[in-house]
Amino acid sequence: MPDKARVAVLVSGTGTNMAALLYASRLPGAAYEIVLVASNDLAAGALALAEAEGVATFALSHKGMKRAEHDAAMDAAAREAKADYIALAGYMRVLGPAFVADWQGRMLNIHPSLLPRYPGLDTHARAIAAGDGHGGASVHLVTDDLDMGEVLGRAEVAIAPGDTAETLAERVKFAEHQLYPRVLADYVSRPFDPDWLVAQVRERAMALPHAEETLSHGMPCFGIEKGKKFAWVSMDHHGDGKTALLAKIDGADEQAQLIENDPERYYRPAYFGDGWIGIRLDLGDTDWQSIEDWLSRSWRAVAPKKLTGLMDAADQF
Ligand code: GRF
Repeated sequence: MPDKARVAVLVSGTGTNMAALLYASRLPGAAYEIVLVASNDLAAGALALAEAEGVATFALSHKGMKRAEHDAAMDAAAREAKADYIALAGYMRVLGPAFVADWQGRMLNIHPSLLPRYPGLDTHARAIAAGDGHGGASVHLVTDDLDMGEVLGRAEVAIAPGDTAETLAERVKFAEHQLYPRVLADYVSRPFDPDWLVAQVRERAMALPHAEETLSHGMPCFGIEKGKKFAWVSMDHHGDGKTALLAKIDGADEQAQLIENDPERYYRPAYFGDGWIGIRLDLGDTDWQSIEDWLSRSWRAVAPKKLTGLMDAADQF
């Protein structure tokens, strides 16, 4: 079981979503902990609640400050708290591009509509006015495009006859409080989830020319059609608890060197001999570009000349 992911929550208001995230994080087996609640509004109810619960807080009004300066102060507070992720929960400030870039892939937001419908404000009134059958909430990754990052999860809430924006908003909040902790927990668990890790390898391996997937010795295995295998994903092999990519290397010297330089990440895969290296995928910090490079190197090592020739030609461009 990896250490819990450290999450900073940014709020401007009451913080009912912050509370939902916090109480979920205190249940047994939780995947994350809240290490900071930060606000641009000194009077935010969320701050008082966090304090009462013994969670570190940071408050700094944005009034009279440039956006980039205020963002930088929030960023510094999150870093000081050693946050791995940021969860926006009713944070009513648009974050500037530098902040968004720094936290890319590690910052989530909850939005009270079924995205991609109704980004922006007045979501409930707009859903009712459009005659929609459902409103709801979405949790998404934060990008520069407001409310438009990848949607990680949605919860639908039926619109009842006679609903107003207020009555609908109230029910959507219940759904938000279920949705956000679940999606956040799943998201921070991904880097340790064998199925998600295999899917990442699969996407990259299958993008190589003439790649095919088979099951070999119970492991997902990638090879060249009618040809040799270039990669395996070892998943809890003989109960070793590891999820790792097995890729081709030059031989015993390279194998020994890789292991010596980074013994936590690299290992000699049992039964594969000197021509292969085990690369742990489940350490939480996998560099997927490097995995892509390992896969294409492995592919090249086993591909017939007529295929590598095509790759060489493509590389010229
Ligand atoms: C929620 O409706 C959320 O979807 C939106 O801001 C609101 C925050 O409410 N982004 P609360 O402070 O969590 O109660």
